Amino acid sequence: MCGIVGYIGKQKASPILINGLMRLEYRGYDSAGISTIEADGLSIMKDKGRVKNLYNLEGINDLKGTIGIAHTRWATHGKPSKENAHPHQDNSKSFSVVHNGIIENYNELKKFLIDNGYKFYSETDTEIVPNLIHYYYTNNNNESGKMKFLTAVKKACSDLKGSFALEIICKDFPDNMVVVRKDSPLVIGKGIDENYISSDIPAILSFTRNFYLLNDFEYVFLSRDSAEFYDKDLNKIDKETKSIEWDATSSEKNGYDDFMLKEIHEQPTAIRETIGAKFNENSKCEFDGLDFSKDYLSSLNRIYIVACGTAMHAGLVGKNVIEKLCRIPTEVDIASEFRYRDPLIDDKTLCIFISQSGETADTIAALKLSKEKGAKTLAISNVIGSSITREADYSIYTHAGPEIAVASTKAYTSQVVLLVILAIYFAEILESDSENLVKLKKEILELPKQVEQCLQLKDKIKEFAKRIYQEKDVFFIGRGVDEAIAKEGCLKLKEISYIHSESYAAGELKHGAIALIEKGVTVVGVITEPTLVEKTISNIQEVITRGAKTLIVTNQKVDKSMFDTVLEIPETNPFISPVIATVPLQLLAYYISKEKGLDVDKPRNLAKSVTVE
Ligand code: F6R
Repeated sequence: MCGIVGYIGKQKASPILINGLMRLEYRGYDSAGISTIEADGLSIMKDKGRVKNLYNLEGINDLKGTIGIAHTRWATHGKPSKENAHPHQDNSKSFSVVHNGIIENYNELKKFLIDNGYKFYSETDTEIVPNLIHYYYTNNNNESGKMKFLTAVKKACSDLKGSFALEIICKDFPDNMVVVRKDSPLVIGKGIDENYISSDIPAILSFTRNFYLLNDFEYVFLSRDSAEFYDKDLNKIDKETKSIEWDATSSEKNGYDDFMLKEIHEQPTAIRETIGAKFNENSKCEFDGLDFSKDYLSSLNRIYIVACGTAMHAGLVGKNVIEKLCRIPTEVDIASEFRYRDPLIDDKTLCIFISQSGETADTIAALKLSKEKGAKTLAISNVIGSSITREADYSIYTHAGPEIAVASTKAYTSQVVLLVILAIYFAEILESDSENLVKLKKEILELPKQVEQCLQLKDKIKEFAKRIYQEKDVFFIGRGVDEAIAKEGCLKLKEISYIHSESYAAGELKHGAIALIEKGVTVVGVITEPTLVEKTISNIQEVITRGAKTLIVTNQKVDKSMFDTVLEIPETNPFISPVIATVPLQLLAYYISKEKGLDVDKPRNLAKSVTVE
């Protein structure tokens, strides 16, 4: 979590830094700060609260420095406060540092530094970093110039356990900056006589399309017109830039009130782009970079799909399709649990990791474990060059474009589409059920149009949102793949409306949770599984009997008079119905949040990219 930005060039740094932070606020937004190199040394300005508060700080407009670092925080160690906000400095104010990640052994290092006379003024793990760098810098009489700076950073980083992306400026180097990362994202954008640094690409996409992607423990010594790269032992290495195709306007709101609403409406395009040229009605599926054979797929003992949150919900849909089309046992795991449960992995296991950002710490850790145990690993991400795609044996991409709102929408539907195409690709290699596969492919090509149709339901959904926005509890139920849809609708609602919601397999409700159903409680029922319509309706009937208000999302023939509100969505193959059935649930969460006057794009306590375990 946390977002970091840096600038080194000829322009005034502070507006560029604050502008970049605003675009990174989705990564955390409880405090923010910048440090620039001024004529009289390092300046620091920081405060509790949103990035925009920085504009109110006295003296911020007087900063003239053309080199600076900046940070927006999502608190891990220490409450949100000015003292705990980044940047942090060493005691002599020679180094300013911003940090994304967690230093796990900070207590031990803090003790070491205190024993060596250093004092601490914040509750953060980060404050040890500038002091440790200072310690190694002042105790090095063998080197001078940039190697002295780099060696101090390298020695400090070698002591750190955990994850970090660091930007460091030093008063002795008024024209330079050092950056490094380990398990936390950091990219460098190359301009003309200037370099931009950021936690992610969209924040600096309006300045450049050319990026250097850093690997763990690569150190960069930056000047205005150059970026020198060093490996973990400080040997110089070469690095090429990568050109990014997203354009800057795709990270703007384009007239929508919020990014979430814009991203919900971008789903037809995101799905179209994700399908891309992977198949047409008459051709087999193809994925650039995948070369699975029939022998390999037939030899698999199981597939694990591992992810967090919404991405994990996409995995549940993937499991349904892979098992039904390929008959390969497939398990879905929450990444933060996976590696602690001693999973059964060997060289006959394929592990698929889904992550929109490609930077989720739990997912990356699960991937590393699977590799160690001999599995082949396949990453599904929305971000080319993200950490997960660099760790995995194979990577395939959703093409949803930058997703800025914390609540994932277009990334989810694109992940589902990609997983279904992947399942078809496997099934074609395994030579199973070709007639149905052709039909399914045709239905996938219809999805963008069908999502458009679902978006037309928004007035009806808004009306329902107005009726229930003050409620305390909402239940989401469904059977089969409809349970996976219910889970995703439920997560969307709770994260952006703060209404307590639960999702259940419809048939499971009567085994306990039905005790919570009383007059007026809202139950959202999802009915798209043709073989389970009657069973689900019986379960909904059970809650109606107990006074529940019901909203139904369905593409099946149901007696509409039974329910309060019915949202009719287009009919499609049950494998892909989650793509269209989730759209009304996204809109429901959105409009409820708006009715409550909440910040839809930046819900409390959450961050877009969860780079801590
Ligand atoms: C919810 C949401 C999160 C993410 C989860 C994984 O709307 O966005 O649950 O899905 O944090 O993030 P990624 O996909 O970046 O690994």
